[in-house]
Formats: sequence, structure tokens, C-alpha cells
Amino acid sequence: MSAYSHLFTPLRIGTMTAKNRLLMSAMSINFGVDAAGRVNDQLVEYFIARARGGVGMMLVGGGAVHPTGLELPDLPKLWDDGCIPSLQAMVAAVRPYDCRFGVQLMHGGRQSYHDQKVAPSPIPAPAVVKGVPRELTPEQIQELVAAFGDAARRCREAGFDFIEIHAAHGYLINQFLAPNANRRTDAYGGSFENRTRFLMELFRDIRGKCGEDFPVGLRINGEDYIDNGWGLEEACRLAVLLERAGAAYLHVSAGVYGSRQLTIPSMYAPHGCFVHLAEAVKRCVSIPVAAVGRIKTPELAEEVIREGKADLVALGRALLADPEFPAKARRGAAAEIRPCIGCCLGCIHAVLALEPGGCVVNPGVGREYLLKDEAAAPVPRKVLVVGAGPAGMAAARTAALRGHRVTVCDRRPHSGGLLRLAAIPPGRGELADILDFFEADLGRRQVDLRLGTPVTGELIAALAPERALLATGSLPELPVIKGFSQTRLNVATVVEVLDGEVAPGERVLILGGGQAGLVLADHLACAGRRVVVLNRRRHFAEELSSNDRFYLRERLKGDRVTLHKGVAVREFLPRGVRFAVDGVETTLEGFDTLVVAEGMQAVREARRLLETAGVPVELIGDAREPRSLMLAISEGEEAARSL
Ligand SMILES: Cc1cc2nc3c(=O)[nH]c(=O)nc-3n(C[C@H](O)[C@H](O)[C@H](O)COP(=O)(O)O)c2cc1C
Ligand code: SF4
Repeated sequence: MSAYSHLFTPLRIGTMTAKNRLLMSAMSINFGVDAAGRVNDQLVEYFIARARGGVGMMLVGGGAVHPTGLELPDLPKLWDDGCIPSLQAMVAAVRPYDCRFGVQLMHGGRQSYHDQKVAPSPIPAPAVVKGVPRELTPEQIQELVAAFGDAARRCREAGFDFIEIHAAHGYLINQFLAPNANRRTDAYGGSFENRTRFLMELFRDIRGKCGEDFPVGLRINGEDYIDNGWGLEEACRLAVLLERAGAAYLHVSAGVYGSRQLTIPSMYAPHGCFVHLAEAVKRCVSIPVAAVGRIKTPELAEEVIREGKADLVALGRALLADPEFPAKARRGAAAEIRPCIGCCLGCIHAVLALEPGGCVVNPGVGREYLLKDEAAAPVPRKVLVVGAGPAGMAAARTAALRGHRVTVCDRRPHSGGLLRLAAIPPGRGELADILDFFEADLGRRQVDLRLGTPVTGELIAALAPERALLATGSLPELPVIKGFSQTRLNVATVVEVLDGEVAPGERVLILGGGQAGLVLADHLACAGRRVVVLNRRRHFAEELSSNDRFYLRERLKGDRVTLHKGVAVREFLPRGVRFAVDGVETTLEGFDTLVVAEGMQAVREARRLLETAGVPVELIGDAREPRSLMLAISEGEEAARSL
């Protein structure tokens, strides 16, 4: 029996039964749909991988019911019958895996990425998407009501087991519900009854066109977390109405574009951050209720069900990071789950930049159709990976999976390279989860991991590798600025400070307003230091996802940290700095420490030794060129595939 007995108990939802309590929440992944809106092999294999991984229910995200409501370009277009055949083929391909498969129906309203936006009232979205939407006329509202019903009917004809209506996250239906987006004075605005009318009408239209035996769930917000938005009290009232109207389940989420709590929170938000909202709604109804929000371990998912806070647990990003999450949990191998680190970079940040969704820790997202027939390497080789950072460990893991005999050496006593240090500042600890995953996985695959082991000529001779991958990472670059060598400030790099080699004083200048500089500022401020950040770029922490940056910027709003951007540093002084912003000069003095957290330069130690020994060497990750974690991991995996 599974350690998670509540999680792996079947659940009746309307007329269907799900084999367990895990639901893959709808994610508009922005790939696998052709120009005509038909789904292709890329999307099909993405879903097969998740269904095979054991999830009980899953949803296709972002099914657009009407051209005016297409949120992102590459999402399923459900507004004509031409969409049915390709959906039918996808449903048939997923069928063998005993997973209840549904589609989320949505209309983006004012949060759509095109200029034909419509909404209950002509009020722009509070953030992210620009442009004033056109106010819907009563006739257009009726057209959209029917569009929801027709799209649902098409999903049923395609063979899906259920649908979910997207009434959350600030999209069209939520815009009708929320006073800040709905200023209508007709039957669709004003009172609670009027604001819920659009939803109740389209719900009835769907039931009329699909039949009462077709399960229709709804995603609603428990809280918009924005001024004059939709809140928990009204969500509970609506839940009762929806139950009476025949809803199969309710899925309680939160947030809109521009809200104080983000719908897709980064690593700074607590695990299970929206569970309390589902719990409150569950108290008002007896149909199944799903909880969501940074639930990334089977332990927490089990606890939510066991404690009766919800009947279903929705996993979004956890299933991007590891489609096998449910199967691994079920067979007692939770420690083998590849963890989502809450960076938001490969997934939602990419999608909102209109790129295909992916995952920083799992480069296989969106490439399942390319990787599904991956076989063992034709010739197993002896491979040496130099450097046990993310690129090196990702490469070693894939190489071992393909049957190579792999040794990884790192001169440091711990794995992870600089990412270990990046995980030290407050709220950043989850970055280390992926390192721990890799290290444990290398152990399971009999990779010979030698920490505290610099590569020497003798070692190369003893190991006699046939191929080498150089993943020795990068180190901070020192700037060329007047006064830098003469200042009496205690000068250190961000690496030396986080590594504990240099103890900063009470008043610290940080040169660099990227990710490293800002998380260090937070770290030092939390330790009671006063910090001034000088950012020579125009924007702060551009390499973070906007969701992650949002939380970090909020944390830095206290009075211990002062941020300057667009800075031209004129010179470092004995105890301070003189700089200009837009031509206006400022001199700051009275500091004791200067920390450099700006550019990085590649470290390529051991390259010569390997080349001299005649071992073919490939550079990966920061050793090739300092870049992102996402590229480090994907490049590591790709290099291992070509060995
Ligand atoms: C790339 C991406 C796309 C998303 N698209 C949708 C969507 O189309 N509909 C929706 O209701 N939620 C969408 N979400 C939100 C997720 O369903 C989920 O509520 C959110 O990621 C929080 O859950 P998690 O912490 O388990 O990821 C999306 C999330 C991501 C990461
Ligand atoms: S990109 Fe980051 S937040 Fe998104 S699923 Fe992957 S690890 Fe999680």
C-alpha cells in the first residue's frame, strides 16, 4: 500500500471516477498547436508523458472558445468544428493510461494578447497586458454564452471526459465577477446576482448542449488579491449556486494580473499558499473541491486530503518538472521526484513572452515527441565530467542513463557549484533542491562522484576517459573603475561573501543590481546590514522571471536597502563612491565593504590537461559562456546525448 493512502484513493466526480486525487491543473503551454488551432504531436506526447506518469485527471490549458478570447497565440482554438478531429486523436492516444482527460474553456477578455480585446467594461488590465478592451454589448454577451456551450459540445464530441470552465485569474468570466473590472449598469453588472449572471448563463448553455451527464467543473478565485476585486465571501456564495446548478467540482485558485499575491507564485511564496481558500469553499459545498498553489511534494498533497482541506490536489509546475511525480509517490520513491524550484522562468515567464512553455529543471518539456524513442548509446564510453555544478550533474545523469560509465570530479567539497551559494539568501533555498536531486540520482545510477578532487594529469591517466565534458562554471569578474584598486573599503566578490570567506561590515556597497546583487542585498539586510546597490544597467535582476522578481523587489522595500539604477560609477573613494544617474552626480561615504556582484567569467581549468592527454573535450554551461541555469541544464543533457 502506498505511503500516501489518501492521495491514491479514487474519487467520484459527477458521472466519472478518477483513480487518484491528483489533478494536473490547466496550463496554457503555448506549443503543440498549429496555425489553424489544431493540436499536433508535440502536445499529444506532452500529455501522454503526464498521463503515463500516473496523474488521475489532467486538463488541456487555455482552450479558447472564441477568437476574441484567445489569450496566447499557440493555444487550442475551439470555436469551430474543425478542431474536433485532432482533439479526438489526442484523446485516443491518452486513453490507454487511465487518466480522466479534460479541457479548460477560457476567454481571456482584457487579459488577451491581441488588439481585439473585449471585456464587461472598457477598463484595461491592471498589469502585464496593455490596451483598452471594447465593452461587450448584450448581444455579444449572448454570442459568448453560446460560444462556451458550443466549445464544450466539441470537447465532448472529441471524447474528453470532462471540461473545466475558467472563471478565475482575471480572465473574462472573472472580469464579470469582479467589481473593479465590471462597471456595467445593465443586468450583467452591479449586484452579486448580476455579476454572476454571465457565468450562470454559460454554465446552463453548456449543460444544455452537452447533457447533464457530462462533468463540468469550474475554476474560481477564492481571492483576487487586488483592490475592489472578487473575494472569499462571494466565492463561497457562488460555490453554493454552482453546486445547485450541477457543477461536478470546484477548483479554487487566486490572483489576477497585477494582484498582490501572484496566481503562479515563485519560490518566495509558502507551499500550499492557496489551500486555505479551497478549505473555506469546501465548508460550503458537498461536491469535490480542488486546492492548488505550490504543492510540490506528495507529503503536502497527502496532508491536504487527509486533513479534509480539499478532495483533490492540483499540481501545475510540479508536473512540468517531473511528469512521473504521481507514479514515483505511489511506489514510495518520492525522493526521486525532480523538484520544481519555483523560479517561474522556463514556464510562465516564457509563455507570457509568447514563447513556448518549458521548464528550467526539465528540458524535456515540449520535447517529449523528440525524446520518446531515446535509446541507449550505441557505444558505451568512459566519460569524465569536470565540475559538479548543474551543467555537469545534468550531463552526467543523462550520460549514465544512456549507458556510459561516468566519473564526475569537482575540486570543491560539495556539489552544485555557485548554485549552492545562490541558494543561501532568504527564500532562495529551493534552488538547492535540484542539486540534491541530481546528486542523489547520480548515486542511484552508479555515477562515480568525486568531490574535493581536482583534476590532475595523474587522475586523467588513471581514469583514461574516452570523452570529457568541462563544466567548471564561472567566477565573478572584477570591474575596471577608477579608484577600485586604491579604495580602503574591504573589497570582496559576492561568491566570497556567500561562501563565508569574507565577513561584510555594517555598511555595504554592492556593485551590480542583477539577481546576484539583489539577493545578496536581501541576505545582508536580513542580517542587519545597511546596503546600497549600484546597478549599472537600466533594470534590476533582468535574468529573473518577472514573477520571481516581483517578490524580491517587495522584500527590498524596507529601509535597509537603497537601490540605484542606470548608474555611471565615476570613482571609488577611500570609504565610498561617486556616481552619476542621468548626469546627476552623487557622492556616498561611510561604507566599510564593497561587494562586486556584476559580470561573470568562464573558468576552464583542466582543459589543457585533458587536451594534452588527447581526450576530446566539450565545454558546457558557464564554462562555455556564463549564462542561465536553464541553459546549463539543457546544454548538459544535450552534450551527454551526443557523446
Ligand atoms: C505556464 C503556465 C500556464 C498556465 N496557464 C493556465 C491556464 O491556462 N489556466 C489556468 O487556470 N491556470 C493556468 N496556470 C496556473 C496553474 O494552473 C496553477 O494554478 C499555478 O501554476 C499554481 O500551481 P502550481 O504551484 O502547482 O504550479 C498556468 C501556469 C503555468 C506555469
Ligand atoms: S520553470 Fe521553474 S517554476 Fe517553472 S516548472 Fe520549471 S522549475 Fe518550476
